[in-house]
Amino acid sequence: MLTFNFNNFTQNNCLNGNTHESINSNLEKAQKAFDRVKTDPPGFVRLLDDLSYINDIQQWIERSVKGKYDHFVVLGIGGSALGNIALQKSLKPINWNRMTKSQRNGLPTIDVWDNVDPDFVQSNLEVIDPSKTIFNVISKSGTTAEAMSNYLIVRQILLEKGLSPKDHFVFTTDPEKGVLNEIIKQDGIRKFVIPPSVGGRFSVLTPVGLISAAAAGIDIQQLVKGASDSKKRLFELPVQDNPAAMIALHHMLFGEKRMMINVMFSYSNALYYWADWFRQIWAESLGKATDTDGNQINYGLTPVKAIGPTDQHSQVQLYNDGPNDKVITFLKVKDFNHQMTIPALHKDIEALSYLGEKSLNELIDAEQLATAYAVKNHGRPNMTVEFPKIDAYHVGEFIFVYELATTLLGYMKNINPFDQPGVEDGKIFTYALMGRKGFEDKRKEIESH
Ligand code: PA5
Repeated sequence: MLTFNFNNFTQNNCLNGNTHESINSNLEKAQKAFDRVKTDPPGFVRLLDDLSYINDIQQWIERSVKGKYDHFVVLGIGGSALGNIALQKSLKPINWNRMTKSQRNGLPTIDVWDNVDPDFVQSNLEVIDPSKTIFNVISKSGTTAEAMSNYLIVRQILLEKGLSPKDHFVFTTDPEKGVLNEIIKQDGIRKFVIPPSVGGRFSVLTPVGLISAAAAGIDIQQLVKGASDSKKRLFELPVQDNPAAMIALHHMLFGEKRMMINVMFSYSNALYYWADWFRQIWAESLGKATDTDGNQINYGLTPVKAIGPTDQHSQVQLYNDGPNDKVITFLKVKDFNHQMTIPALHKDIEALSYLGEKSLNELIDAEQLATAYAVKNHGRPNMTVEFPKIDAYHVGEFIFVYELATTLLGYMKNINPFDQPGVEDGKIFTYALMGRKGFEDKRKEIESH
């Protein structure tokens, strides 16, 4: 299991930490939020009740992808991309795409095209052979301009090469709605569904994240088991001992003290991309203009990602001595997949000799502890999430804890963590500027400014 250390979040250990009184006086609020999750489980919780979709994905990958394609490309953005990237980066070798096909055991390279920067798209196109590629278009709404444009570009390339869309696309979308469903009917493209009750940023454990993960050989059963076991455990624990509830409660209390910048500081390259995923779920779920009663609140906590030790030499000066508005969560790993010893050379140079025979594992661990201690001594609250090791099971557990913590904090602040009107606004103005029918008034509105 992951371990969660909240010691440096409390005033006992950290000058600006939360007091036991403030925590205790808010436990009832946290309990109410938890009760709401239990009595009316959100889509990402209900998802774990019926896992038959996992078998469908695995069977399809075995039958229709393995050995047939050299490249697997995801076309999606936001919640339809960030989880995919984090799964690949944390559970496959970081240089997966640079390995040879035999080093990859015949499995495909994986790319996620989550932008419409033409240079980015072109350079991605240059490293794949479309005739040996399967493209997974992921869009819950089936309308998002970025995913759809990249789909159109790829489709045109396939048609020019005389390749059939049916053989090179798989769509992941809403069961009924959206334009992708029309194309599926027309072309007989294989479809996987995103349950309507699971929002984009909460969808990594649906076919959204799991298809590309399974294509790369990630153990998706273990991934979902990690989440599902975490759900069982968390649903039994009282809020004061419940990591998800305590993450929500502490961050809420710090927010009330205007400490509203939440840094996820990963001491692992592989886990860094989960800080990216966290950035979206925390920002988009909690950044809201109004509460559920319609009161204007303009709430939000600003998530920031950092990587250690690299950012000790970039960000930590600011964290220690700058404005006291940050709350830090360290991610660390107990047992890395590799052990690497630092050679004992230059024994006569004291500035180097102390490193000899120690390991990089000891060094990164010492640096994380030193940074946590230093920031705490500067009165900067911090907590630590420790992964026993980086594997599918613990990543699944991490995903569930943070989906739940986000939801609980939303409920405690009386906001809806599952909508994203601010994102929709941007989508609408993009349609207007790109001349989409039905959005003429919005275009006039922009042009008049
Ligand atoms: O979390 C969300 O709802 C958003 O970030 C969406 O995932 C993102 O906008 C992409 O939407 P769609 O999957 O409909 O293309």
